[in-house]
Amino acid sequence: MSENTPLVLRERHGRVGLLRLNNPKAYNALSPALLRELMDGLAAWDADEAVGAIVITGTERVFAAGADIKAMSQASAVDMLLSGYVDLFDRLRQVHKPVIAAVAGWALGGGFELAMACDIIVAAENARFGQPEINLGVIPGAGGTQRLTRTVGKYLAMEMVLNDRRLTAEEAARFGLVNRVVPTEQYLDEALKLAQAIAERAPVAVRLGKEAVNYALESTLSAGLAYERRLFYLLFATEDQREGMDAFLNKRSPAWKGR
Ligand code: HXC
Repeated sequence: MSENTPLVLRERHGRVGLLRLNNPKAYNALSPALLRELMDGLAAWDADEAVGAIVITGTERVFAAGADIKAMSQASAVDMLLSGYVDLFDRLRQVHKPVIAAVAGWALGGGFELAMACDIIVAAENARFGQPEINLGVIPGAGGTQRLTRTVGKYLAMEMVLNDRRLTAEEAARFGLVNRVVPTEQYLDEALKLAQAIAERAPVAVRLGKEAVNYALESTLSAGLAYERRLFYLLFATEDQREGMDAFLNKRSPAWKGR
């Protein structure tokens, strides 16, 4: 691949910003350069008013096989700390628009962590999920032990983190790790369709809905309920609240302004 070939391709499909991880020869290993391009792409779509939702995907064979092992193999602890590599993942948390991971093939290590950091996961039938870091003498470092455990519970998370248990797409669906499993040749279309449907909804309500759901993972129930209520009241300051309720009462489709 030439030096100028992007490691992440950007395409717009209607109101959806698509980001394709584009280093298939290295199984989309998340090198610092690839991860930086991905996060720049996310920030760009997040700032683009023509975009209402974002999809991240890889290829039909691999979503991402994790951090670039070659790049990390000789690093010291201080190298890892100062490089800011793992901190790059935090930029995904700053994205206000919904982010859907469309996963086919391998989602391993940091690749799985990347998918779990998204808001919705659409899995192809051939998707496989795992945290194989234990084989390298380390553990997940980009949220794997935390997001996985919150989703599937302690016991399965232990088996996955301590003994490299991998999940098929069907198993992932059973354990609540993915929203849906679709035939492999349709996974990207399905993810784009879902993203487009969300992108056509009232943008401020979508943004605050995402914020409220994420807050549930960070707070007590009382704090979360109070937070939700404030966001709910806030939406009555938007033109789209008037529009949505007027459209319902007059049996017409709403025309959202994003205001
Ligand atoms: C660098 C990688 C890579 C990775 C694959 N490759 N994964 N290079 N980093 N994570 C490269 C291989 O070295 C090989 O290069 C080529 O991609 C194809 O890989 P093969 O192993 O030959 O293919 P296959 O037998 O089909 O197996 C596919 C695979 C396997 C199951 C995905 O490659 C694999 O297990 N990869 C490692 C997965 C892993 O341990 N991930 C966790 C990384 S640590 P050549 O040059 O030989 O063709 C991590 C920590 C995150 O993610 C912490 C926070 C960020």
